[in-house]
Amino acid sequence: MRTPNSKQPILITGAMGQLGSELVPALIRRYGPGSVIATDIRHPETGHGSTAVFGDAEVEFRVLDCVDPQQVGHVATDVKPSVIFHLAALLSAVAERRPQLAWQVNAQGTFNVLEAARETGARVFVPSSIAAFGPSTPRDGTPQETLQRPDTIYGVTKVTGELLCDYYHSRFGVDTRGLRFPGLISHVAEPGGGTTDYAVEIFRDALRYSSYQCFLAEDTRLDMMYMPDAIRAVLELMEADPERLRHRNAFNVTAFSCTPGELAAEIRQHMPEFTLRCEVDPVRQGIAESWPRSMDDSEARSQWGWRHEYGLAETAADMLAHLRPRVAREPHLSHGAAGG
Ligand code: SER
Repeated sequence: MRTPNSKQPILITGAMGQLGSELVPALIRRYGPGSVIATDIRHPETGHGSTAVFGDAEVEFRVLDCVDPQQVGHVATDVKPSVIFHLAALLSAVAERRPQLAWQVNAQGTFNVLEAARETGARVFVPSSIAAFGPSTPRDGTPQETLQRPDTIYGVTKVTGELLCDYYHSRFGVDTRGLRFPGLISHVAEPGGGTTDYAVEIFRDALRYSSYQCFLAEDTRLDMMYMPDAIRAVLELMEADPERLRHRNAFNVTAFSCTPGELAAEIRQHMPEFTLRCEVDPVRQGIAESWPRSMDDSEARSQWGWRHEYGLAETAADMLAHLRPRVAREPHLSHGAAGG
């Protein structure tokens, strides 16, 4: 990170999750493996006791449960990070099944990290989400500043995190920054328990079975972003001139919005035989219908120069190009499903 004292490391929580699996390698590429300390609630299979392998690099690794304020405080005091990327969180559908745990991990964990940042002077990145909006929010062209009354525990914890980031910035001068991510599409790590997971699953199943059974209705429109854009958004926001940032909770950022039907049509451009079937899961459908259909991210574009590179067509083409050879190597599925 381009910080006044670049000798201080970058600390990441939830390093093995959907975002961390790609942000950690990006941070290593940009700042070097010696600048990065990864943490998660459990040790990854790769690496030794105090290290872990991300991409093709080995970095220092520590087991850290963000729910425990003492552990967070101890690691931060020990490491003295320049920046904390606080990625540890439960996604929306899992959170709805375990609301008490979701509060602990998502809200208490964020509070603990902000406290550690206050004490050590670290800058903080906290991801927010389209889930920070709710049924009373305008769903089309959702503005940066608008009603935020989510009715999911995931959304409640995301609004809590945003308010805490604002508070720690104005009250204690902590350099807090955040992004309201839409559904993130990636060929690297599985999302694990979100409402937008369909937009990842659809590609693997297209290549494996030439068909996909979607848990959302075919016309459910949500914002989406391809992971390379999301990673670049994080890096660019964290390198932005603090004087230019008027929002310290989280910025709306999006790339495109689409429905399962439109995503399927795009896949059919590459695989005409692909079919989509929708078997609606009422819980996740209800969650999706409480979220924006398309956010207005003009504040991010004007305050720190956000711009996306991947639209729907580019995302679909790149996902299929990356996944096709991998699916073709899956021995039990080698009945030609990976062609097309
Ligand atoms: N992708 C997330 C989810 O579906 C939303 O931030 O839970």
